[in-house]
Amino acid sequence: MITDSTRNSLVATGLGTLMRGAGLFTRFIPIPQPTLLVGPGSSGRLGQAIAGFGHRKILIVTDSIISKLGLLKDLTDALASGGAEFVVFDEITPDAPIPLIEKGIAFYRAQGCDAIVAFGGGSSMDASKAIAVAVSNPKPLRQLAGYFKGLRTPVKIYAVPTTAGTGSEVTVAAVISDPEQHRKLVIIDPRMVPKMAALDPCLMTGLPPHITAATGIDALTHAIEAFVGNWTTPYSDGMALSAVGLIFENLRIAYRDGGNLAAREKMSLASTYAGFAFTRANVGYVHAIAHQFGGLYHTPHGLANAIMLPLVLKFSHPVIVGRLALLAVAARLGTEDEDEDVLAQKFLDGVDQLNADLGIPATLAALKEADIPALAKAACWEAHTGYPVPRYLSQQECSDLIRQALPKATPATPPKRRSKKAAKAA
Ligand SMILES: NC(=O)c1ccc[n+]([C@@H]2O[C@H](COP(=O)([O-])OP(=O)(O)OC[C@H]3O[C@@H](n4cnc5c(N)ncnc54)[C@H](O)[C@@H]3O)[C@@H](O)[C@H]2O)c1
Ligand SMILES: [Fe+2]
Repeated sequence: MITDSTRNSLVATGLGTLMRGAGLFTRFIPIPQPTLLVGPGSSGRLGQAIAGFGHRKILIVTDSIISKLGLLKDLTDALASGGAEFVVFDEITPDAPIPLIEKGIAFYRAQGCDAIVAFGGGSSMDASKAIAVAVSNPKPLRQLAGYFKGLRTPVKIYAVPTTAGTGSEVTVAAVISDPEQHRKLVIIDPRMVPKMAALDPCLMTGLPPHITAATGIDALTHAIEAFVGNWTTPYSDGMALSAVGLIFENLRIAYRDGGNLAAREKMSLASTYAGFAFTRANVGYVHAIAHQFGGLYHTPHGLANAIMLPLVLKFSHPVIVGRLALLAVAARLGTEDEDEDVLAQKFLDGVDQLNADLGIPATLAALKEADIPALAKAACWEAHTGYPVPRYLSQQECSDLIRQALPKATPATPPKRRSKKAAKAA
């Protein structure tokens, strides 16, 4: 009789082989890397460089908050003084939905553009990537989701991330949302990687603390999932460990003191390094589950990751002790001479403590018991068809894991006893 556990291990073995095969393949696909300009004022320097490239007209894709904060100024001043023509599309909303991206595509075409500057958080950068693929490959966006679905090379993209972050400035992925199906779609194509990117800490000083926290834990999750998965390479490991060290050293500072340029710059480097790591070694269950929370409840991506990260790490713990120990050393939570088990536990505790220091809740207020089976099914499908997870979850185990993020029931408060006088008046 095939018991649940046998079935799990069959699934694990079959998928494990498939995933390892795909991992070997991804090791050899050339992934282009953007030229990086780093430091205060680098968005202006990027504008100077782009102005020299002779584009006919550039589309700047961003959101209205960034536009109103005046963050585009250094870039647009540099483009204007270099004689480059540009137009701004500043309507992107978090997890850009398909109809909005279609509006961006129509605007790009109507304006006769031939390049894009993606300016903002992951939502603006990913919307830009989707626009770039779709204008070169005119077919419905849903048909572009998946691996290499567009034949023709996307138009050129340059990127200026304003969160730290998604790492989208260096990754092969674009995540958009499908409001009809309440889910997120991922487009994957190495040719979407921007040609150049500016990591300018001056743009990040006004990020509200809760967004600094959530986006910082997104970057941490990229580094950790890339490091504990089955597709690691020496390159992805190096990038992931550097990112983890920088995040443990700087995220609390950036959260408490948003104007600290040194901490902001190091967080943006960490986010980019984590992007390099996971674009090679991929992510895992934390992301698979977070994408479902994002699709159904519109939970901000970083917050969804931050809630699930400790739970998934504790589940994976038995098979990744050595890797957790290395992460603890990179995070300076312990030293190499300590026992691996002790170091691994220190890393799990360190992640819990970091979340607590950043005001991240342990549960997701929007999560409902009735939704859990479907969320688990979709998360398992996403993970088991694409992510090299170190320890497999059955759908039931995934449901149990998600259930741990349910808001705790508040004890009913006993009704106040009314005084005899009040009772009479009533
Ligand atoms: N392509 C990838 O490789 C990849 C990786 C991880 C996540 N993602 C996707 O990225 C999206 C999330 O991106 P995000 O977390 O960067 O958030 P976001 O782009 O949705 O921005 C979040 C909020 O922060 C505001 N904001 C951004 N920069 C600001 C600044 N400098 N100052 C003040 N406010 C600012 C925005 O206006 C927005 O309201 C999700 O859709 C997620 O799925 C993509
Ligand atoms: Fe992410």
